[in-house]
Amino acid sequence: MSQPFIQVEGISFEYTINNHKTVPVLENVSFDVHPGEYVTIIGHNGSGKSTLSKHFNGILKPLSGNIYVDGLNTREANLQREIRQKVGMVFQHPDNQIVATIVEDDVAFGLENIGVPSSEMKARIDFALDAVGMSEFRKRPPHHLSGGQKQRVAIAGILAMKPDCLVLDEATSMLDTYGRRDILDVVRRLNNDGMTIVSVTHHMSEVAEASRVIVIEKGQIVLDGAPREIFQQYELLHQLQLDVPLASQLARLVHEYDNEFQADLIHNEEIIQEVMRLSAKRGVYVG
Ligand SMILES: Nc1ncnc2c1ncn2[C@@H]1O[C@H](COP(=O)(O)OP(=O)(O)O)[C@@H](O)[C@H]1O
Ligand SMILES: [Mg+2]
Repeated sequence: MSQPFIQVEGISFEYTINNHKTVPVLENVSFDVHPGEYVTIIGHNGSGKSTLSKHFNGILKPLSGNIYVDGLNTREANLQREIRQKVGMVFQHPDNQIVATIVEDDVAFGLENIGVPSSEMKARIDFALDAVGMSEFRKRPPHHLSGGQKQRVAIAGILAMKPDCLVLDEATSMLDTYGRRDILDVVRRLNNDGMTIVSVTHHMSEVAEASRVIVIEKGQIVLDGAPREIFQQYELLHQLQLDVPLASQLARLVHEYDNEFQADLIHNEEIIQEVMRLSAKRGVYVG
């Protein structure tokens, strides 16, 4: 097994309100993320997903425990910049992440901050805008773009920094179906090219496509594994007010009716294949 890219070691965290009242949010959370993984994090509102995400690039520091990014402890102030270049964060609201009035200036913004020489800047901006399919918009004002396009520009701004890992905190939740699909296409492609992805989401179709899902509840990990395995625990997920993909619900229903029908399917295409398989086996012609 490769060296973990992110090591979360027994972290706890609480917010302090008005200097005295504390709100405990994370409790002794531990897990590793390995290079190239596509990890999704699910849990209902207030379970601590955003708080946890903000620990991955040192925006928040744990109260106890440690987080290492590529071996670097996020507590160390002099490593802050290096850690933020390694782990890029995309948030929910595209508007809050755009700073410039022209798309390419927005992508350049982070590069100027870290002192990338101007000779190298153009190549990085070209690469980043191309990766998210926004090259033709480079001279446009971002505020005229759709939510999904703005979110792609925000991702380009991060890609230009050449991170190893992209963390998305409900980055598609403000987008329509098309915007969401575009973002997920970009993310899937980046992951195929080797980038580590950690995505907080409530879209079970995205979870089904990931290599792993971590379920959190009241600041603790309750499940961690391959989506196909986790989605079989539908009673526990139901108790946690979490969905399973439509394909999982359907497969389970049909399985109850016909136990030869496989119960652990999670993708729509698998349902079709299973219908075809059983039909052929039983000599029924379909389609
Ligand atoms: N800045 C903050 N100050 C105080 N409490 C907060 C703050 N941000 C979040 N919380 C509280 O921490 C808990 C976890 O929040 P959060 O991490 O945003 O959960 P999630 O992203 O899963 O919805 C919630 O009870 C929330 O009210
Ligand atoms: Mg959140």
